[in-house]
Amino acid sequence: MFSTKKARTRLTGVLAGAAVFALAACSSGGGSDDDTADAGGNGGGDDVISIGFSQVGAESGWRAANTKSIQDTLTAENGFDLSFSDAQQKQENQIQAIRSYIAQGVDVIAFSPVVESGWDAVLEEAKDAGIPVILTDRAVDSEDESLYESFIGSDFVLEGETAGEWVSENLATEPINVVELQGTTGAAPAIDRKAGFEEATSDNPNVTIIDSQTGNFTRSEGKTVMEGFLQAHDDIDLVYAHNDDMGLGAIEAIEAAGLVPGEDIKIVTVDAVKDGMQALADGKINFIVECNPLLGPDLAEIAKKVVAGEEVEKRIVVEDQSFTQEQAVEALPTREY
Ligand code: AHR
Repeated sequence: MFSTKKARTRLTGVLAGAAVFALAACSSGGGSDDDTADAGGNGGGDDVISIGFSQVGAESGWRAANTKSIQDTLTAENGFDLSFSDAQQKQENQIQAIRSYIAQGVDVIAFSPVVESGWDAVLEEAKDAGIPVILTDRAVDSEDESLYESFIGSDFVLEGETAGEWVSENLATEPINVVELQGTTGAAPAIDRKAGFEEATSDNPNVTIIDSQTGNFTRSEGKTVMEGFLQAHDDIDLVYAHNDDMGLGAIEAIEAAGLVPGEDIKIVTVDAVKDGMQALADGKINFIVECNPLLGPDLAEIAKKVVAGEEVEKRIVVEDQSFTQEQAVEALPTREY
């Protein structure tokens, strides 16, 4: 019953707007005048679309797959001139990159916000410059939705709920103590996966979250935090990790403590990247909720529409699945990432 979470849905429709189109069309000419790069066509337009993309960092296997999807899709052959920057998980680096894309006069800015808050000022600057912004992967908490055209990404609350429902039904038929490895503090997936899990387990008195700390979505910090959990508690039944990498770090810590991951301490994670799926198939992880990182094609499609002044959806929810150990064994041979 957990195998298919949600088909891709397109929610509230909005107009990109004639004003945005007029301004974007102006900047299109300034962004690139390299007609040779337009050989693959850009969906009917004559100009190459210059796009500045500010990536969160390279913190996880998920992020590596997401970066590859974006770089493989926003190519000259497909009608794009991509400027890509890696913010190393620092908001100030992303703000700096966005300001530099504004100064360059790119046609479109896209970014995956490292944290939810603190974007209004720089988004206002992009809006004043007439440059449309597309959010990928992670949300911002701006109340003014006119500051961006569209947000493409998974439903992180639903991911947390799916993890919590599986735990509640499959493990918490007796009392269990849970430790939680949270993602980056202030990041949408950390906030939402925590909330979704808590909501889904709140009506099961057998589930007790005895500790919860950030591992910053990295394998090394996941391992360090898990070592601390193991020193502080001798009664851990389950690790709920907000991504595979932290779960994989936890496996290292559990094995180093002489325990068997997946048996002595159960593990549930989010992402379903290859390393995580391998650990699931090997019995070291017990359940994974997928977060699909292949956002490049949707980003390309929305960017083309925005530049062409077409209507785009304000929120595009990407399709995800979830995997048991048996399903991981079946899925691994053809897994794309
Ligand atoms: O925003 C998506 C999350 O960011 C992924 O789940 C995690 O692995 C990454 O660091």
